[in-house]
Amino acid sequence: MAKKKVQTDEIHQKESSESGSSYTLKDLPGVGEATVKKLQEAGILSIRTLAMYPMSKLMDEAGIGEKTAEKIIKVAQDIEKMGFKSADIIWEKRKTLNKLTTGSQNLDDLLYGGIEPGAVTEVFGEFRTGKTQLAHQLCVNVQLSYEEGGLEGNALYIDTEGTFRPERIIQMAIAKDLDHNMILKNVIVGRAYNSDHQILLIKESPKIISEKNIKLIVVDSLIGHFRSEYIGRGTLANRQQLINSHIHDLLRLTETYDELAVIFTNQVSAKPDVFYGNPITHTGGHVVAHGATIRIFLRKGKGEQRIAKVVDAPHIPESDSVFSITEDGIQD
Ligand code: GTP
Ligand code: MG
Repeated sequence: MAKKKVQTDEIHQKESSESGSSYTLKDLPGVGEATVKKLQEAGILSIRTLAMYPMSKLMDEAGIGEKTAEKIIKVAQDIEKMGFKSADIIWEKRKTLNKLTTGSQNLDDLLYGGIEPGAVTEVFGEFRTGKTQLAHQLCVNVQLSYEEGGLEGNALYIDTEGTFRPERIIQMAIAKDLDHNMILKNVIVGRAYNSDHQILLIKESPKIISEKNIKLIVVDSLIGHFRSEYIGRGTLANRQQLINSHIHDLLRLTETYDELAVIFTNQVSAKPDVFYGNPITHTGGHVVAHGATIRIFLRKGKGEQRIAKVVDAPHIPESDSVFSITEDGIQD
């Protein structure tokens, strides 16, 4: 039975605090079964995702004509109330934001409470500085209650280097007296075999995010595949463009879902001057540097110790803190 399509004045009348999320794609004017199918195949499952989609991408990826694309994005944006907001409303939302604990009080303090949902965090540093260990720890911690510093959700781990280790998850879960079988079940791992596959896994993630209550997405590492596949100057521009678009896919996910944190790792080249001079210089160039909202630079200290520094976060001063990698996971 055909349901009546949503009317523009209806959207404005609708009293809804955050969004008119009671609508589904089928309710949009001019959207029939066939279009819904095309949208779903492109990974667009909700009005909110559609509202954030760039038009050219929608046309490319879902094979939708320009007129329709323009129209349905506009209606989706109206439903989601994507116009201007006053700063006090933004503050109201930020004030109540739950942060995800890293397991180290020092590191949490540095980050004003932990990893932020609704943002993309980059963890970068030389090899063995603990990027992968921190990523594993967050997959455990995200499952904790809000009181314990978790987000009461699950993790999606995109492993591009084959370094995901369930053994470490088990150790970290046991150290917190958690049922490690449950914890393992709630870490969904996608092994990305090349850069195209990596991009595809993220594009296909919306279905899993809703179904499995995903609150954390890890991409470890972001540009490893791109770096090995795109060699030579001729292909550099193309590579940067793909990475840029991939990071924007991640950003859009954090904006689409209410409480979703995204972290990606990035290895810096081992040139000593990079560490003493300008630690911000790292692989991926400006495209990567500008893509992340918060960037954490890791370097080695004595033994198990690691030093973290936050660089160019919009609201955190640049400062250092020390944490440790132990068998039990990330600690002070
Ligand atoms: P790349 O991926 O090579 O760039 O490095 P990374 O930054 O991801 O390093 P990773 O997170 O894999 O950290 C490796 C460090 O963690 C090594 O120094 C290990 O010694 C340490 N580590 C891993 N497992 C354990 C453990 O069970 N106990 C302790 N104490 N340290 C561990
Ligand atoms: Mg690693």
